[in-house]
Amino acid sequence: MSKPIIALDFPSKTEVEQFLAHYEEPLFLKVGMELYFQEGPELVRYIKSLGHSVFLDLKLHDIPNTVESAMRGLAKLGVDLVNVHAAGGLEMMKAAKRGLAGSETKLIAVTQLTSTSEEQMHSDQLIPVSLEESVLHYAKMAKQAGLDGVVCSVLEAEAIGVECGEDFLRVTPGIRPANVSADDQKRVATPEQARQKGSTHIVVGRAITKSEDPAESYKQIKNEWSDAE
Ligand code: C5P
Repeated sequence: MSKPIIALDFPSKTEVEQFLAHYEEPLFLKVGMELYFQEGPELVRYIKSLGHSVFLDLKLHDIPNTVESAMRGLAKLGVDLVNVHAAGGLEMMKAAKRGLAGSETKLIAVTQLTSTSEEQMHSDQLIPVSLEESVLHYAKMAKQAGLDGVVCSVLEAEAIGVECGEDFLRVTPGIRPANVSADDQKRVATPEQARQKGSTHIVVGRAITKSEDPAESYKQIKNEWSDAE
């Protein structure tokens, strides 16, 4: 079972170094826009050189040609996981996959952000179906485009497993242990619920990075995630 993926939502390398000093083991780390736009590929190479796995969460969404070329560049970084927005469409996702050809990097698609509620999806995106239907539609499209999986909330992970197969990755953010604030996330679940509902990977940010004892919080979440089998 994959380790919990820790979202390194920090403004610069300094905070990353301070944070990583809490750990001795190899971790699975998510580098998102906040950090990447400040520190760039050098930071990714640095984290890889320490022996950690990297999910580069840049959520690409552009015309197919641009996404394909961008992916060709990201493949050279040797990251383990990258993503696009499924809303970019089938052709864009196929192009992203082509860009990664010959690399080991896995590609997943963001369905609906876990900070989006059904109401917001109706009013902001004018998508008239239920949130679950929208997520399932995006997941099936990602599968059709040859992607390895999706980012979704725990609430949809089970249905996606049934629809797209058990080995189709379901990477779920919005994870909060029972006693921790949901912050801006709308569709949250505990690590145990995530395991029971068929997530293949969990992404945890603030519940670890803002904790007073990050090492202990990580350990607890990791145990809850893998003990819940
Ligand atoms: O702090 P928290 O655990 O809410 O962090 C969740 C992380 O997962 C953030 O880095 C956020 O950008 C990312 N994410 C998300 N929902 C998605 C895709 C990525 O929350 N659908």
